Amino acid sequence: MSRRLFTVGPVEVFPDTLQAMAKPMIIHRGKDYQQVQKAVVEKLHKVLDTDMEIYLSPASATGFLESCVRCGVSKKMLGITNGSFGDRWQQIGTLNGKLVDKIEVEWGKAVRKEHIQGKIGKDIEAVTFVSNESSTGVLNPCLEVAEAVKAEGDPLFFVDGVTSVGAVDLQLKKMQPDALVFGSQKALALPPGLAIICVSPRLLKKAEKVENRGYYFDLLEIKKFADKDLPLTTPAVSLLFGLDYQLDKMLKEGVSARYQRHAEMTDMIHKWAKKKFGLYAEQGFRSKTLTAVETGKFDFGAFDSALKAKGFEISNGYGKIKDNTFRIGHMGDLVPKDINDLTKVMDEVLEEMK
Ligand SMILES: Cc1ncc(COP(=O)(O)O)c(C=O)c1O
Repeated sequence: MSRRLFTVGPVEVFPDTLQAMAKPMIIHRGKDYQQVQKAVVEKLHKVLDTDMEIYLSPASATGFLESCVRCGVSKKMLGITNGSFGDRWQQIGTLNGKLVDKIEVEWGKAVRKEHIQGKIGKDIEAVTFVSNESSTGVLNPCLEVAEAVKAEGDPLFFVDGVTSVGAVDLQLKKMQPDALVFGSQKALALPPGLAIICVSPRLLKKAEKVENRGYYFDLLEIKKFADKDLPLTTPAVSLLFGLDYQLDKMLKEGVSARYQRHAEMTDMIHKWAKKKFGLYAEQGFRSKTLTAVETGKFDFGAFDSALKAKGFEISNGYGKIKDNTFRIGHMGDLVPKDINDLTKVMDEVLEEMK
């Protein structure tokens, strides 16, 4: 049975997008393909309002999170975390043999400049940071964090934009990250399988001096081909067709209108969640793409099964808060009417569970 997804990702992919992906296959070493990659990158520049170099990989976003560590760090990095995905990036550093200093902020709270001031050693080559923490539903104040990091010796600054890109204005020209990583299956409303990274000249220069960068996720290997609008290896061609289509859709809607739509859907979900349960993330720093609903003791399994039986799917809690939260995704191509439909069905189910 097909269900409407209000999940944290993969998210709902609309039939028109699926249709756009169903074009005949093309070979990736030729003009037809080059035109598609070139168009996609140009449109990404517009949507993200950046002139950073942009590379694509047939991977999930984690692939490029690993690239940042392997290409930007010889010895020592620092990972900022206030949730599972911040922890994950630190782990990626450790597993790649880097020394990892940590700034750990309480879950549910935002990362603020006072967490950073005086905490970044002179030997730190790069800092990793998650803009929107998908485990807790916290949207961190990215510009504030970026400024605080720059004030501490200006290490490379890597940003996980996996659940923020396409839904909030990250103000990249102000933030000036050295990498921004995201994937197809979140607010871009595509199926999973395509990782995207924006990179700075500083990161590319640093990579020249870092040893053992590997091959598949080596930004310098990828760049050699990207400079000619080509992929390093066989690309996810159908996903590129889909991304091209989605970017057109975003530009047609207008990027600000898209951000506004996400804010509107967020308000609707917050209103519902506050009435029925509570919100896990601190006020003023709540995500615009997903909400972690704080339930206390609650039979999420029964709630989830009943919702699924009615054709709706949401996400369970994640990491150490999985037993007292669940998460609702409200991103991508969903519109306020979809949120209305969901809250109505969730109300029905809660009534039935009494
Ligand atoms: C904030 C964040 N970072 C990283 C990831 C990992 O992304 P992927 O599964 O595409 O590798 C996720 C996935 O949910 C995420 O939400």
